[in-house]
Amino acid sequence: MLKIGTIEIKQPYVMAPIAGYTDSPYRRIVRSTGAGLVYTELISAEALVRGNKKTKMLMEHTPEEKPVAVQLLGNNIDTLVRASQIARDGGADIIDLNLGCPARNVVANGSGAALLKKPELLREILIEMRKAITIPFTVKTRIGWDEVSKNVLQVVDIANENGVDAIAIHLRTKTQGFKKGIDMQSLIDAVKISRIPVIGNGDILSPLDAKSMIDQSGCAGVMIGRGAIGNPWLFQMIVDYLQKGTYVLPALSTIRDIMIKHIRMMSAFYGEQKGIKLFRKHLVHYSKGGPVSPLTGAKYSSDFRAAAVTMEGLEPLIHLIDSFFDRFLEAGNV
Ligand SMILES: Cc1cc2nc3c(=O)[nH]c(=O)nc-3n(C[C@H](O)[C@H](O)[C@H](O)COP(=O)(O)O)c2cc1C
Repeated sequence: MLKIGTIEIKQPYVMAPIAGYTDSPYRRIVRSTGAGLVYTELISAEALVRGNKKTKMLMEHTPEEKPVAVQLLGNNIDTLVRASQIARDGGADIIDLNLGCPARNVVANGSGAALLKKPELLREILIEMRKAITIPFTVKTRIGWDEVSKNVLQVVDIANENGVDAIAIHLRTKTQGFKKGIDMQSLIDAVKISRIPVIGNGDILSPLDAKSMIDQSGCAGVMIGRGAIGNPWLFQMIVDYLQKGTYVLPALSTIRDIMIKHIRMMSAFYGEQKGIKLFRKHLVHYSKGGPVSPLTGAKYSSDFRAAAVTMEGLEPLIHLIDSFFDRFLEAGNV
């Protein structure tokens, strides 16, 4: 079990924040497939304090998603303090601070991964945010700015000393971006020195990857990002594999039901037109499958995608999804 402050997370398999994907509907989907904790995507502390409506909506969540971590992005102490109070008042269970975003405009502004280059400012920020809220407080970091300035252990120390309740570590440097290759040794070393739970993150695409990260490092939890996009059932497989030593791929009917549930939720959350438009990128991932999807290499996927991304109405799109799966099942392609 993973304990973050006062919150007990029974299944220590965490859905990573992925901007543009991990909205309220997707968070509900992965909570229902076994993720023990979900995050909002990064939320600009400044925009939140300004009362920007779109920004506020990123924070909205439903009881089925709980516990939810609201992730803040910023570098100004007063703004982050105020934003963390607004997020708490908005019902966040956990406040998380982003120390990993590599986007050019973000780091140019001194936020995200740029904070790794300013450990003294980071310390100040953590001290003041910690004073401002009593709910659990976490950080999500990369292992450093670049290979020569890798300072994840310093960040772990600063977090430990200043009342942070858990730390998630994406095992790449900022300059590495998303290039292949994670630094497992950094996680092993971080777990050794940390008194607070460490959550490992990076390149988990299968239940075996999750188990391997836990076995090698002894981390308290693992966080899965891209591997779960279009593959939300990955969480169920990880739960099964770690509890029973085996897992099965989901039935096609399960995938169909999840897709339909997901699109109905998006339509309800955003309104039909916008919900369908936003669902398209998920649909592409669902139909392409991944290493743990029975849809990988599916014969009719590209025809289906081409037709589905032009659909306007909810019921016609659901009908198209149904017929895609029927065709698949008829062809014995299970
Ligand atoms: C499109 C995209 C958007 C992301 N958005 C966020 C974000 O909002 N906040 C954050 O902390 N990390 C964000 N990340 C990083 C992921 O949370 C995660 O750390 C990273 O993808 C490594 O995990 P993975 O290999 O399992 O995907 C994003 C990654 C991608 C690919």
